[in-house]
Parts: sequence; structure tokens; C-alpha cells
Amino acid sequence: MKIRAAVLEEFGAPLAVQEVDLEEPRAGEVLVRLDACGVCHTDMYTASGADPSGYAPAVLGHEGAGVVERVGEGVTLLGPGDHVVTLFSPQCGECVHCRSDKTNLCLAIREEQNKGHLPDGTTRLSRNGEPIRHFMGTSTFAEYTVMPEIALAKVDPSAPLDRACLFACGLSTGLGAAINTAKVEPGSTCVVFGAGMVGLGAVAGCRLRGAERIVCVDLSDDRLQLAKGQGATDTLTGGPVAVDEVLEMTGGFGADYTFEATGNVDAMRQAVEAARMGWGLCTVAGVAGKGETLDIVPRLLITGRRVAGSSFGGVKGRDQVPEFVRLYLEGEIDVDPFVSHHLTLDEVNRGFELMEAQDGIRSVIRFS
Ligand SMILES: NC(=O)c1ccc[n+]([C@@H]2O[C@H](COP(=O)([O-])OP(=O)(O)OC[C@H]3O[C@@H](n4cnc5c(N)ncnc54)[C@H](O)[C@@H]3O)[C@@H](O)[C@H]2O)c1
Ligand SMILES: [Zn+2]
Ligand SMILES: [Zn+2]
Repeated sequence: MKIRAAVLEEFGAPLAVQEVDLEEPRAGEVLVRLDACGVCHTDMYTASGADPSGYAPAVLGHEGAGVVERVGEGVTLLGPGDHVVTLFSPQCGECVHCRSDKTNLCLAIREEQNKGHLPDGTTRLSRNGEPIRHFMGTSTFAEYTVMPEIALAKVDPSAPLDRACLFACGLSTGLGAAINTAKVEPGSTCVVFGAGMVGLGAVAGCRLRGAERIVCVDLSDDRLQLAKGQGATDTLTGGPVAVDEVLEMTGGFGADYTFEATGNVDAMRQAVEAARMGWGLCTVAGVAGKGETLDIVPRLLITGRRVAGSSFGGVKGRDQVPEFVRLYLEGEIDVDPFVSHHLTLDEVNRGFELMEAQDGIRSVIRFS
């Protein structure tokens, strides 16, 4: 079928919205009609050429939500009409990682996905017979996409899809960092560095876990206001003295749990330093620039601080994304303040501009 999609033709150039060909789903695959898709940093990072593993031509986009149109042979988990959130981090349920409760890094289709292929090593996207690659296994800057059924989370159809799509990436990453990776305990003190989509999700996750004190650190006053709306009890302006301020607020000890959601390695170091001696756990969610390293004084670790990394918040997507969407529908997660702009697919590059200007938290593309 012919669909309209935003194609990365050349690194550093704007995405080109155009007509491309999409083949029917093969065995184990699903055709999804996209309804909404968030515009995320990872899309912009890849489009800029900064990501060393990027490839072109490819259809970008990975924060999608839509409705199942048709399914391929052998698909049993989903059927036409189901509402789904796309998962760049799939859950096959069978590999050694899916069977472990210690990680969400499913191994089933990793290699082909990293190459921009569907699991059978080919693409469904093409143009004049030339293959176009699938970005992050999702390619949701498009009217339709074909994805493996193990990479789709079936969600409550009463959830508006322009809200549900945020659970495809940043929001679940933040929630999961607090809930799955750190497993924040009730009554604890938490510090979250960064109040973008990921950091605000972490603030909400700390609140849902019953944290008593949640300090959010950011450079933007507007974003710190949003953090209060998600449950932050205190806010701090980021900078060189942020660690001292956290220590002062915590009787000199530091916080039980700290989170880094900035992508800035200095803030990562601060998040480690702001964790409490004895048991403080620092969870790193930000993606640092190529070649950057995290600088930690080893003594901080010997005296009981720990550091953990979190990919997609440790969320096993097919199980937990529907739970998060249910929490949203029950009023436990306030998603509305995150949707700052609605755009059309043709305005996708405007989404990157808004992100660069830090105008709002998320621009969401609507397809219908
Ligand atoms: N681990 C994952 O699976 C995963 C998933 C999605 C995004 N990410 C990464 O998480 C990070 C955050 O994503 P986002 O969408 O929330 O980004 P964002 O740019 O919207 O938010 C980052 C925030 O950090 C703040 N900040 C920057 N430097 C700071 C400092 N020194 N101290 C305090 N605050 C500071 C900025 O003001 C901004 O509000 C990015 O690096 C992104 O690539 C990781
Ligand atoms: Zn993302
Ligand atoms: Zn798996």
C-alpha cells in the first residue's frame, strides 16, 4: 500500500514527508494505523547524524499509538481493532532476559532491529523498489507501520491515543526508573535531575511508590513548576551547587534515591554525589553524547552508594505499558500537561524546532 511517511534521507537535513510503499504484514507481524506519535530526542539525535549507529534512508518515529488494521499469519496476541502502543523495546516472553525479572532487554529481535530490519532480515518499507529501513523497529512517523506482534502493547481502547503514545518512550522510562529499577521505598527521599519527559515521569514514579520527599532539579523554572504538578515536594535550580543544596536538605547525608534524566554527564556525576552514603542508589536514564564518560570518585561507591542504568525504565512493555495506561485512566498519572503541541505529519520538523527551543514537553503528531 501507499502511505505518507517522514523519511530521513540525509543526516543533518530536515525529514522529507513523502509517499512510500508499505508491504502487508508477514508471519508474526501486524499492520498498525497510527493515530498519534510523540516527537522525541532520539529521533532528532538520529536525524542530526550524531548517532553513530544511525542509518538512512529510514522512516523515523518511535513514540506511536494506533489501531491494529490487519495481522499476519500466526499472530495470536492481537487482532483488528485493538488499540496498541509501539515498543522499541519488545517483549517476546521467551528469551532468557524476558524470563528473568532482572531485565527488560529482550534479545529476540535485537540484531535485526539494530540494522533497521524486521525480524526476518528484510524491510516492509520501500520506494521504487529500493528498501527503506525501519527506525528502532517502529517507524511511526507514518500513517501506517508494520511491526512484530511482540513489539506492540495492547492498551485500554478508552485511552486517548495522543496521550497513550507518550507511554511508548519517555514517560514509561521515567516511571519505570523509579518503580522497576530503583524500586523506591515508601517514605524515602528522592532527587530527580532533569524535568523533561523522563524526569517528570520519574517524579511521578517516586510519588506512586510513596516517596515522602521528592526534590526535582532543572534549569528551567517552567519545568520545575510542571514537576510540582507531578508530585515534587521541593525544586532546585541546577548548577554547580546543586549537590551541596541536596546535602543541606538531607541533614548532610544525601538522598535515598537519585535519578538522572538530563543526558548531561556532569548532572550524572552530581546525581551520584547526591546519593546517600550507606545505601543511596543513583539511577541513570539519560543518554550521554558519543565518547563521554561518567566521572565518579570510587570512595563514594565504597561508602555504600550504588549506580544503576535504566533502559526504557526496565519496563517489560507488553505487560507494564497497559498497566501504566490503566493508572492514567484511573487518574493516578496526569499526562495532559506533557502534551504541549499537536502537529500534522507535514510539520514533523517543526517538532524538532520546538524541542530545541524547549517549548513544552512533547509535540504529538496526529494522523487523523
Ligand atoms: N534510558 C532510556 O531508555 C531513555 C529513553 C528516553 C530518553 N532517554 C534520555 O533521557 C534524557 C532525558 O530525556 P527527556 O526527553 O526528558 O529530555 P529533555 O531534554 O526534555 O529534558 C532534560 C532536562 O534536563 C535539564 N538539565 C540539563 N542539564 C541539567 C543540569 N545540569 N542539571 C539539572 N537539569 C538539567 C534540562 O533543562 C531539561 O529540562 C535524554 O538524555 C534522553 O536521550 C533515555
Ligand atoms: Zn524516545
Ligand atoms: Zn525476549
